Amino acid sequence: MKKISVSAPGKLMLFGEHAVVYNRPCLVTAVSARIKVSIERTSGDFKIEAPQVKDVRFVEETVGFFQKKFKIGNGLAIKTESDFSCEYGFGSSSAVTVGILEGLRELFNLSLSKKDLFDLGYKVTLAIQGLGSGFDIAAAAFGGVLYFLTAGKVIEKLSVKSLPLVVGYSGVKADTSTLVKRVGLGFKAQRSRIEKIFNEIAQIVEEAKKELIEKNWLRVGYLMSKNQALLQKLGVSTKKLDKMCQAAEKAGAFGAKLSGAGGGDCMIALISNEKKRAVERAIERAGGKVIKVQTCAEGVRDESNG
Ligand code: PMV
Repeated sequence: MKKISVSAPGKLMLFGEHAVVYNRPCLVTAVSARIKVSIERTSGDFKIEAPQVKDVRFVEETVGFFQKKFKIGNGLAIKTESDFSCEYGFGSSSAVTVGILEGLRELFNLSLSKKDLFDLGYKVTLAIQGLGSGFDIAAAAFGGVLYFLTAGKVIEKLSVKSLPLVVGYSGVKADTSTLVKRVGLGFKAQRSRIEKIFNEIAQIVEEAKKELIEKNWLRVGYLMSKNQALLQKLGVSTKKLDKMCQAAEKAGAFGAKLSGAGGGDCMIALISNEKKRAVERAIERAGGKVIKVQTCAEGVRDESNG
């Protein structure tokens, strides 16, 4: 029987986390760490083999949505394989969701655009998490570096071909839902203060968008550190993340910030090639683990011949 293999990339938030949940834009890059999904039709029942997927509901819900929408049966076997640990916060759930959607699309020969994949994938995210901007689903579907507005109201691929980052894992798994809810409570309690922070973050995103395209790394780095200071004000950074960012800056990075919800996961530092090793060592000395990934990776793609 016909077997389809596809892969979808993980992501790193570059600018604008949290504010993007409140109708502000963000910038995200797809990364070279990918999740591979293979799907085949079988005569038996629905079978899943997804050992590294932390929350198998993403697989079940995605297939369920697809079955309802396109009236397909239960005879499917799905297998996933990941290049990266779900601990890093690279978006394994969103990559799996988009991978399955693209795999099913190919298997049933449907014509669905990347935006259609995004819309379906975002529905799955909302059904399971109840909240989230959808930026991770967009990164997995479209790839590259994206300027993204809440719920995919704008998804714009930027002409950025390279982005010299060092990624440091803090050793702590972040709980995105808890952090988003915590910011939500702050928003209710101190609305005008938080709105002001979100507006400042949105301005940084707009400027960073231009500077990234121009490869003005010095300015992009400065904006990263400025974004980090605002994330500290939101209360989502940790001592460990702060320490890693400071160490990276001291070792010569153009700038550094946490990436994602905060509370743990990864930080990113923008570097010149000459400073790369020094920054990596500084992050390690601050207790972080350097994760080797490339940025600006391709979105979901067919792997049937590879
Ligand atoms: O924890 P991550 O890497 O999935 O990032 C969450 C980013 C938030 O802006 C806090 C939430 C969202 O859905 O945009």
